[in-house]
Amino acid sequence: MAFFSNVAMTVAAAALMLAVVAVSPAHAGAPAAAAGGASSTPAGPLDIAQLGAKGDGKSDSTPMILKAWQNACHATGPQKIVIPPGNYLTGSLELTGPCTSSIIIRLDGNLLGTGDLNAFKKNWIEIQNVDNLSINGHGTIDGQGPLVWKQNQCQKNYNCKILPNSLVLDFVKNAQIRGITLLNSKFFHINIFSSENIVIDKVTIKAPGDSPNTDGIHIGDSSNVTISGTTIGTGDDCISVGPGSKKIRIEGVRCGPGHGISVGSLGRYKDEKDVEDVKVKGATLVGTTNGLRIKSYEDSKSSPRASKFVYEDVTMDNVSYPIIIDQKYCPNNICVRSGASKVAVSDVVFKNIHGTSNTPEAITLNCANNLPCQGIQLINVDLKYNRSGNKTMAVCKNVAGKSIGIANKELACL
Ligand SMILES: *[C@@H]1O[C@H](CO)[C@@H](O)[C@H](O)[C@H]1NC(C)=O
Ligand SMILES: *[C@@H]1O[C@H](CO)[C@@H](O)[C@H](O)[C@H]1NC(C)=O
Ligand SMILES: *[C@@H]1O[C@H](CO)[C@@H](O)[C@H](O)[C@H]1NC(C)=O
Ligand SMILES: *[C@@H]1O[C@H](CO)[C@@H](O)[C@H](O)[C@H]1NC(C)=O
Ligand SMILES: *[C@@H]1O[C@H](CO)[C@@H](O)[C@H](O)[C@H]1NC(C)=O
Repeated sequence: MAFFSNVAMTVAAAALMLAVVAVSPAHAGAPAAAAGGASSTPAGPLDIAQLGAKGDGKSDSTPMILKAWQNACHATGPQKIVIPPGNYLTGSLELTGPCTSSIIIRLDGNLLGTGDLNAFKKNWIEIQNVDNLSINGHGTIDGQGPLVWKQNQCQKNYNCKILPNSLVLDFVKNAQIRGITLLNSKFFHINIFSSENIVIDKVTIKAPGDSPNTDGIHIGDSSNVTISGTTIGTGDDCISVGPGSKKIRIEGVRCGPGHGISVGSLGRYKDEKDVEDVKVKGATLVGTTNGLRIKSYEDSKSSPRASKFVYEDVTMDNVSYPIIIDQKYCPNNICVRSGASKVAVSDVVFKNIHGTSNTPEAITLNCANNLPCQGIQLINVDLKYNRSGNKTMAVCKNVAGKSIGIANKELACL
């Protein structure tokens, strides 16, 4: 017995050493920028193919990816997990820290989220408690939403079961997501929660315009998040900025189809924190239902403040409601219509907003009389009606601020 187990151990150790030798060239090329000290040799391969994953679209690659994560996370210095070309079917991937390394996930293959909802506890790819993370490559994170969208009951039931989000960052610091594509998520494509110093650059997010709750990127309780050069077309918000978000930068983003760039919905839950310092610059919205929207529930359960927003150089192309502040948001009458609001909106600048509106209501500033919106500025806003027989107008209630350089007097409501 002892003899056999010794032989088995020797074979296992030899296999491990071979694997280590085989994988070292992969992380030799890791960028020094993500470094957190000297690199150690990981305890096993970081390339999921070497760990036995088959990119055939059918075999379950979950254990190999979890193993690569463990190998990388317990090493030190920069470590690069490789997902080579191929189609890798997986269930729930909980990639949890803290890690002693900084991790690069090189995604050149396609990850496919299984259609079997029993394979998920909550989300699909959930990265938690990690510092110094980079996800890049030309691969795709394909949620395979069409297999499960029919099971989404959220249009009918306010407290519905939430389907898995595709890529979730929880308590993550210093992360970059670059170049990859996210396709047909079951629920949100990217959800960033309680995280800081996050960059999302040159990412593509794609789902049909009628797919349920497939928000592009949702941000909550996070600070210093930059989204740049990214194209998002989905069935829900392109980007939504939830409570507790600070220092959010959205630059050179293209949206459509979908519901546009939203702050909110604010006030749904107790103890929500303020949303502050959001800048959107150089966005193009094509055929979205809303353009730039700030929304809060009419009978809100908390009173976060929404302030210091700048929307600049935005092109609207056939957008139904290009500019909206709505302090009386109450979809499907799920809330009590009290007429009052607890969510204060102030210091919001809309500057150089051009293009076409698909409805006459190009500007809607619907604020509550108990808590008027303050310091709202419309500067050089030029929106034309995209059809014949009417013209664009602004509907403004309980708003203080000013209009500057607006040629169409119907839009200069402040
Ligand atoms: C993350 O990077 C910073 C700056 O390079 C470094 O100080 C820190 O130790 C790194 N953390 C990890 C877990 O590698
Ligand atoms: C914000 O995040 C960027 C990118 O990660 C980083 O370079 C910058 O230092 C951060 N700023 C602050 C104030 O932490
Ligand atoms: C404009 O948007 C509306 C509603 O989204 C859509 O039905 C219509 O086809 C679009 N028109 C053009 C010219 O793109
Ligand atoms: C409406 O928008 C579409 C798409 O941008 C454009 O081709 C069309 O000319 C516009 N129609 C009018 C009446 O402005
Ligand atoms: C123009 O649009 C407004 C707002 O939707 C509507 O109330 C009005 O009746 C329209 N006028 C014409 C001439 O269709």
